[in-house]
Amino acid sequence: MTAQLIDGNALSRQLRAEVSQRVANLKARGITPGLAVILVGDDPASQVYVRNKVKACEDTGIHSVLEKYESSLSEAALLARVQALNHDPTIHGILVQLPLPAHIDAHKVIEAISPAKDVDGFHVASAGALMVGQPGFWPCTPYGCIKMLESIGYDLKGKHAVVIGRSNIVGKPMALMLLQRDATVTICHSRTADLKALTLQADVIVAAVGKRHVLTADMVKPGAVVLDVGMNRNDEGKLCGDVDFEGVRQVAGWITPVPGGVGPMTITMLMVNTLESAERSTG
Ligand code: GUN
Repeated sequence: MTAQLIDGNALSRQLRAEVSQRVANLKARGITPGLAVILVGDDPASQVYVRNKVKACEDTGIHSVLEKYESSLSEAALLARVQALNHDPTIHGILVQLPLPAHIDAHKVIEAISPAKDVDGFHVASAGALMVGQPGFWPCTPYGCIKMLESIGYDLKGKHAVVIGRSNIVGKPMALMLLQRDATVTICHSRTADLKALTLQADVIVAAVGKRHVLTADMVKPGAVVLDVGMNRNDEGKLCGDVDFEGVRQVAGWITPVPGGVGPMTITMLMVNTLESAERSTG
């Protein structure tokens, strides 16, 4: 068996076309959705991510403001910028790119963002809303994974989903979203005693650890859906995920590639959240 690919680029194109249409509808009513992106310092990976986010805004008609600051920017100055953007009516989404320099408390900065503009879904109010099933912004990467499952018409009801990784921005919210769709969810992590015994029972596996070959073919039930959130480099410097793609694709029913899988979906869901924030602002 060779798994079918879930193409994150193709799905992103389709969803971004829908976003563009809804942006045009809002603009016709005099509202332009706006996203502010704040980058502090010169982390090379962050610079690439931020550039891609601004480009996605341009492609979908969303107004974007990129604010770049030296790594010496004080925490107080950053908090003041966030406060100003909270009150700026042309801005519907605020994204502070992580990681921040060590002298800045990232938690404090995220909590300073108005939950109404928290399009990253990182604020504790957003996390709480997801936990209790109330409206709020969902973190973009796990939200993108849910959209990928929807795109193949996958019904999660009663299925066993295994999430590998327990981060606040992927693993934990992913587990809650799967639970909300009536899956039975297991969260695995670095202290899990027998990962393979659990993944072998899974109908859906989400690998979100940030380490190569966390999931290999011998750990996957035939026909399972495998979503790979990892972004790593192999020995040749090539981008690769957490999943041993060549091996696992021989066993799985569906699989996301890296690159071209979950990665583009993250930015697409940021566009969706920003658009929805602008739509909500109209009441
Ligand atoms: N750094 C890496 N991924 C992300 C993300 O999705 N949002 C923010 N704000 N920072 C990041």
